[in-house]
Amino acid sequence: MAEVTLDLRGVSRPAAYAELGAHLDAVLEGISDRVAIMATMAAVLHHSFGFLWTGFYQVLEPGQHLVVGPYQGTLGCLTIEFGRGVCGRAAATGRTVVVPDVREFADHIACDARSRSEIVVPVFDDARALIAVLDIDADTVRAFGDHDVAGLERLVKRFAHSTVRA
Ligand code: SME
Repeated sequence: MAEVTLDLRGVSRPAAYAELGAHLDAVLEGISDRVAIMATMAAVLHHSFGFLWTGFYQVLEPGQHLVVGPYQGTLGCLTIEFGRGVCGRAAATGRTVVVPDVREFADHIACDARSRSEIVVPVFDDARALIAVLDIDADTVRAFGDHDVAGLERLVKRFAHSTVRA
């Protein structure tokens, strides 16, 4: 198995995401179980960049509720309604949401009071149905930019061809 500890904090984001993609390809080779993929992606992303909270909310009832999935960080909110908070907005719109400063996002749901900025990326299956969102929090404002949007949207595409856990 590939080396599991990456430190990408001093690396430019485009180079970091390229390295992360290659790393995940190696670690997840032959793996199609969604929970295994989510858990591995959360762990690798979280520790490579030193984020505050990194994880997935899965679609529990389409258009209604998300429920927390594999994550790294302090205790996450258990369920989130579509349309509520940053996660619910990404789920309801099917679009990535970047919040440069959580104090300026009125409906932000604070699971960890140290969160200062956030990005939430929708995750789709092969049929373009929403299956989850990837949520990442940082303890600094403006931690996420266009390179993160592009890099993370590319990373979550691996779910399109994954199979549902038996
Ligand atoms: N801040 C999120 C809630 C999830 S926690 O950050 C883990 C939101 O506003 O949707």
